[in-house]
Amino acid sequence: MIRTKILGLGSHVPDRVVTNEEIPYLDEQHVRQDTIQTETNDAWIQQRTGIKARRYVPNDGSVATSDLAALAAKKAIADAGIEPSDIDCIILGTLSPDFHFPGTAVLVQKKLGIDRTSCACFDIRQQCSAFVYGMQMADAFVRTGMYKRILLIGAELHSHSLDFTTRGRDVMVLFGDGAGAMVLGPSESDDPRTGIVYTSAHADGTGAMDLYLKIFEIQKLPYVGYNAKSREENEIIYPKMDGKRVFLNAVRGMVMSTQAALAKTGLSWDDIQWFVPHQANLRINEKVVEVAKIPPEKVLNTIEFYGNTTAATVPLTIDYWRQQGKVKRGDRILSSVFGSGFTWGAAIFTF
Ligand code: UT7
Repeated sequence: MIRTKILGLGSHVPDRVVTNEEIPYLDEQHVRQDTIQTETNDAWIQQRTGIKARRYVPNDGSVATSDLAALAAKKAIADAGIEPSDIDCIILGTLSPDFHFPGTAVLVQKKLGIDRTSCACFDIRQQCSAFVYGMQMADAFVRTGMYKRILLIGAELHSHSLDFTTRGRDVMVLFGDGAGAMVLGPSESDDPRTGIVYTSAHADGTGAMDLYLKIFEIQKLPYVGYNAKSREENEIIYPKMDGKRVFLNAVRGMVMSTQAALAKTGLSWDDIQWFVPHQANLRINEKVVEVAKIPPEKVLNTIEFYGNTTAATVPLTIDYWRQQGKVKRGDRILSSVFGSGFTWGAAIFTF
């Protein structure tokens, strides 16, 4: 029987570390000023979110989301021991695409030099849940024999679309830039406990306006109402969030999908080496761990130093802890995610 196996993993974060101490002083060009630009502080950020630092791309316009994605992808391809030309499908999750269209996956295909005739490219728009949604897609494609070497990427460049004023502080302090990637392909195995064991994907569109970034409204003429000089009008270019509703729904969705993953596979925490939750807020993850009774020593987080990198958090966290020597080949991982949409889901897979 064909099952889907993870063949390679890679990640990339930009070099610039932005600490909580620096955040209040950054202007919209990410340049440190002498005076406070945003009323926030390290104590508030750490207490409410657990975040201490995040990474930002250079502010010189030299790096796009597709660059972060391509750097992570190259490492995943090398880790799989294959060539870029072996990739026959790219699935890329991002909420910070290079352009409105075309999608960013084709730009990554070009940057990797992948043959233009033999590679399908998909952009998916499930925000913080994109990696689990993408894994479900990849698993279906591999099992049916549609594609044999799928590059699944989560990549985000958040720092350019955040509001560096007190108005945007609730969202701005949370997010960082980064990318993670996996290569997935077929393996002959009848063991249902190996490879991608389980995926689930859910959505509830009634939460769509609890976390969104409009930029434009296509039903309006003109459809972009952006005036840089008007603070009211330029609000449209920044994300908006009802933090408390997102928090409560995230805990609920991640607990439910984690419990369902175990119930539907018949696995218990004795069978799972690591729990890798989406990295939106350390307090969300602590609550999920408490309510779903997850052994705390099995939980892997990176939010303290990477912040929320949305579609990238799951592969970034697994790769970080692999580099630290914790995660090893063959380990079984349960991942649960929640994000804008609302969208949520879970996956169990051996790495
Ligand atoms: O992947 C999904 C993405 N997002 C999430 O998962 C986020 C989920 N939500 C959260 O993580 C939390 O709701 C936040 C961390 C965003 C906010 O924490 P909170 O405990 O819900 O705070 P709040 O929004 O109720 O705000 C409490 C106070 C307010 O001041 P007042 O009205 O009490 O005077 C805010 O204006 O904290 C203020 N505040 C801040 N103060 C300093 C909000 N953001 C900040 C800030 N620094 N960055």
